[in-house]
Amino acid sequence: MNSKAAITGVYGYVPDYILTNAELEKMVDTSDEWITSRTGIKERHILKGEGLGTSHMAAKAVEGLLTKTGTAPEEVELLICATTTPDYVFPSTANLICDMTGIRAVGSFDIQAACSGFLYALTIGSQFIETGKYKKVVVVGADKMSAIVDYTDRTTCVLFGDGAGAVLLEANTEGNGIYDSIIRSDGAGQNHLVQKAGGSRYPPTHETIDKRWHYVYQDGPSVFKFAVKNMADVSAEIMERNHLTGSDVAWLVPHQANKRIIEATANRMGLGMDRVMLNIHKYGNTTAATIPLCLFDYEPVLKKGDNLILAAFGGGFTWGAVYLKWAI
Ligand SMILES: CC(C)(COP(=O)(O)OP(=O)(O)OC[C@H]1O[C@@H](n2cnc3c(N)ncnc32)[C@H](O)[C@@H]1OP(=O)(O)O)[C@@H](O)C(=O)NCCC(=O)NCCS
Repeated sequence: MNSKAAITGVYGYVPDYILTNAELEKMVDTSDEWITSRTGIKERHILKGEGLGTSHMAAKAVEGLLTKTGTAPEEVELLICATTTPDYVFPSTANLICDMTGIRAVGSFDIQAACSGFLYALTIGSQFIETGKYKKVVVVGADKMSAIVDYTDRTTCVLFGDGAGAVLLEANTEGNGIYDSIIRSDGAGQNHLVQKAGGSRYPPTHETIDKRWHYVYQDGPSVFKFAVKNMADVSAEIMERNHLTGSDVAWLVPHQANKRIIEATANRMGLGMDRVMLNIHKYGNTTAATIPLCLFDYEPVLKKGDNLILAAFGGGFTWGAVYLKWAI
């Protein structure tokens, strides 16, 4: 049997500070009832501390992963970080994570595909295993959304949190691992979910700061419509082309942006919510970290050979799905 790229370890990290709906009620005109019923979110974790960026959380996740899997830093041959909140424009956050975890002189780079970033990075990382080029690849999804969220804007600040999740990819010859992936984008969605300034088009100026262009701007209802259609479509498509029905799928592992979007996707796939990974109530939307954090939280109930459909959508727009058989 041909070898496949398989996830052979997973680890997650969220910072200690918990921002509750009750605390948000004191910051903006909102309510626990509104947030819970419209999004499913109760709490999110926030990274506090001078000079700590996304790499801090990602390095914690990678350190935990290496310890848990008994992998020495010298064995890692490639590290990919999916993030929309890099520490710096350059060097890459992947580069910093390697430095912090003792992974030296290997390829490392960031992938930016907003909330679909982890699926993009997983798809790319798996190619290096499937071709036999590398034996151990680390893929980490990490975001410090609190760095770019406007805590005076009630339509966005209730949604996001900070966190990181990392997986180890290795070859599997037992028939488990990644079977298929779909990654898509459509730049027509660029104005619906965007951090407008800070890049090369609008570098930071007093004017961009006054206009609050360094924060997340989101047209929530447009993103919602796009997400409901495309996350469900891509999940159904990957099932169809792999001849899977709802009863074949052990778990849907969806991007955690809004519980109502997740329910619509599960419904389209013919899955009950008892087979859908859900931790949005604890973490909110942690962007590139949602899917590996789900895998980490649900690992104790996963069985070797379980069929998993990972599905995501995000700014851009971007979206995608991965079909894998759990290998651990
Ligand atoms: C943001 C989102 C939760 C808003 O829910 P919604 O049901 O679409 O609500 P609307 O935007 O239509 O707003 C309904 C009302 O609630 C209000 N509202 C918005 N945020 C609120 C909040 N935090 N608390 C209380 N009221 C709020 C709005 O101002 C609006 O009031 P109005 O009717 O008086 O104008 C929803 O659109 C969503 O989840 N979108 C997708 C977001 C997403 O997935 N982003 C990540 C992409 S990776």
